[in-house]
Amino acid sequence: MDFFHYKDQQLFAEEVAVSDIAKQYGTPCYVYSRKTFERHYHAFTDAADGHPHLVCYAVKANSNIAVLNVLAKLGAGFDIVSKGELARVIEAGGDTSKVVFSGVAKTSDEIEFALAHNIKCFNVESVAELKRISQVAHRVNKTARISIRVNPDIDANTHPYISTGLKENKFGIDIKQAFDVYQLAYALPALDVVGVDFHIGSQLTDVEPFLAALDKVLALIEQLKSAGIELHHLDIGGGLGVPYDSEKPPHPSAYAAEVKAKLTNYPRLELVFEPGRAIAANAGILVTQVEYLKPSQEKHFAIVDAGMNDMLRPSLYQAWQNIIAVSPRSDDTPTHNYDVVGPVCETGDFLGKNRPLAIQAGDLLAQRSAGAYGFTMSSNYNSRPRAAELMVDGDQCYVVRQRETLQSLWQGEQLLP
Ligand code: LLP
Repeated sequence: MDFFHYKDQQLFAEEVAVSDIAKQYGTPCYVYSRKTFERHYHAFTDAADGHPHLVCYAVKANSNIAVLNVLAKLGAGFDIVSKGELARVIEAGGDTSKVVFSGVAKTSDEIEFALAHNIKCFNVESVAELKRISQVAHRVNKTARISIRVNPDIDANTHPYISTGLKENKFGIDIKQAFDVYQLAYALPALDVVGVDFHIGSQLTDVEPFLAALDKVLALIEQLKSAGIELHHLDIGGGLGVPYDSEKPPHPSAYAAEVKAKLTNYPRLELVFEPGRAIAANAGILVTQVEYLKPSQEKHFAIVDAGMNDMLRPSLYQAWQNIIAVSPRSDDTPTHNYDVVGPVCETGDFLGKNRPLAIQAGDLLAQRSAGAYGFTMSSNYNSRPRAAELMVDGDQCYVVRQRETLQSLWQGEQLLP
């Protein structure tokens, strides 16, 4: 459930008309709803109630510091994958003792930075990384809390680019080798072994793959226990899907209930979640204006002012996100099946294909479910300043990132002498 809705034939974000936002701040722009972020975060904490837990929002989904701040105020932890994301969490007032650090290529510099900020845990993705964390921690006289990210070899049944838990994927340590790696972790200096972690993919619409992975990891936990290794937390990653179209992913409460049911013998094992999309996707829309309509014999094109540089998901994953009119027409404008395409010089530059819309040049469209992996994957391709980001809170709208200026396009660049 989100707080974007129609009232009097006008799309609203909470209590603010989206057309007013577009008039004031221009297009393309991302519009977020604070209440929706809060509702989705609470869906996880409520769902996990009754079992010790921590919800670590996956910063990569939407890393605007206003978003992080809204979640930090609710007590959220954060899942980060770079020094930059940790710096954002700090800037946003997040609690670094609730940060888990994922990612396959942590540099020594990043490890040192994370240690200096006393993060909760490093999710270790390889033996080489384990050794590096031990060395760096030893050098700076700190103890690094670690968890092994295991690769359970489970098919998440999602797009191959966002599937991470198969043994051919680059992520995690083969679960069959995990026991040995835990023994090694115990033998290395400056490490405190606190948890186990998995993340099998993104946009999962079924709970079964999570449960299959969990069974394998619980077997590992038992094996470790009999060797005297007690873990403090179990991190089940992110990956819960959202309804972009007709998908029916489990609600966080149903998902957490099934997970908790498997943990009745582990009442003190803290459950860590790393949701990104489930919190952010439907908390944002991308607002764009139709520049031209271009009918051809083959197709009707709606050429809009947002492109693949603003929203890459359709081009990269053939992702489907709903496209709706901000002010639906009640006149006799005909409905056609439009390919909604952007200004970028690439055939793959589209927001959606074959969308039935009754529109004219100048109309505003909103692409739904754009709050996750939207702005964070945007770029300056074709020298396009990146879009403004706005957050609505009740009847107020705040600029949380200004539209980039032309000067910002070449900031840091230099002519030859
Ligand atoms: N934890 C780890 C270790 C991850 O790699 C990810 C996402 C998450 C948590 C959060 O997953 P979520 O709850 O958002 O599914 N750009 C793609 C999605 C890439 C996901 C990468 N990892 C997209 O737009 O669909």
